[in-house]
Amino acid sequence: MRILCGSSNPSLCTSLSKELDAGILNADIRRFPDGELYARLLEDITGETVLIVQSTYPDDNALEMLMLSSMTRDNGASRVIGVIPYFGYARQDRVFKEGESFAARTMARHLSLSLSDVICVNLHKQATLEEFGTAVGKRNVSVMSELGGMMKGRLDLVLSPDKGAITYAAEAARTAGCPFDHLEKTRIDGSTVTMARKELDVDGKDVCIVDDIIATGSTIARASEALREQGARKVFACCVHGLFTGGGRERLEHILDGLFSSDTIENQTTAFSATAPVARAVKELTGGA
Ligand code: R5P
Repeated sequence: MRILCGSSNPSLCTSLSKELDAGILNADIRRFPDGELYARLLEDITGETVLIVQSTYPDDNALEMLMLSSMTRDNGASRVIGVIPYFGYARQDRVFKEGESFAARTMARHLSLSLSDVICVNLHKQATLEEFGTAVGKRNVSVMSELGGMMKGRLDLVLSPDKGAITYAAEAARTAGCPFDHLEKTRIDGSTVTMARKELDVDGKDVCIVDDIIATGSTIARASEALREQGARKVFACCVHGLFTGGGRERLEHILDGLFSSDTIENQTTAFSATAPVARAVKELTGGA
């Protein structure tokens, strides 16, 4: 098995290559002056299992994943395993209003034309995995244990923004070695959220809010306000996928005692890695466990 690294996650790709003891394929991936993507494999992969590591956000990366997976298949790989650290469009996981596109399905459906197997990390909805129709092996791995391990010894409580995300808090709290609970978030629109009052015993405590995604940062900002009002001493926030749209990171760094994310989207807050759970899933799928 060898690894084809797309442009989105260079460090995660290198680290997976070491963990799996799999070489990185030489490829020429660049853009023409008009912006169009160019990709070429510089090695023979006939009959090989190839692991492609590439997120599908933003759109340039999504297109690159489509091109790399199709190119790998067309060049004779026997098995093409797609590792999608951050699956873009994951939050459009159903038809919310009549007539709109089901974007997560569209993306998954097109990717499964070339992928034999797919490994995602903390997909926003587990059910999205089923949209990769023809892919044989489908895994949604979680990096919440790694998140909790990174915060071990620094926390009194782990909180999710709402009840729906409580399993994230539970998983992170297990390795962080502290209890967990949830807040009461209501989303008004894409950038507005409210936090209903919920009595929590956080007075003088160090707490961490965990979520799968931080985008605008509104969720974390409201959660942090609610916790400070109730006397929390330190408020940290950790997420898997740090999208940080529209200056979200800078805003949050001002109001938090620490802001951390994983390497599914490599950025300045990246502090823990999806390498171990992804490598475990690859071994499971390929029988190399
Ligand atoms: C929503 O269901 C997700 O789990 C996150 O809570 C959400 O995407 C965060 O968005 P924002 O940072 O814009 O509040």
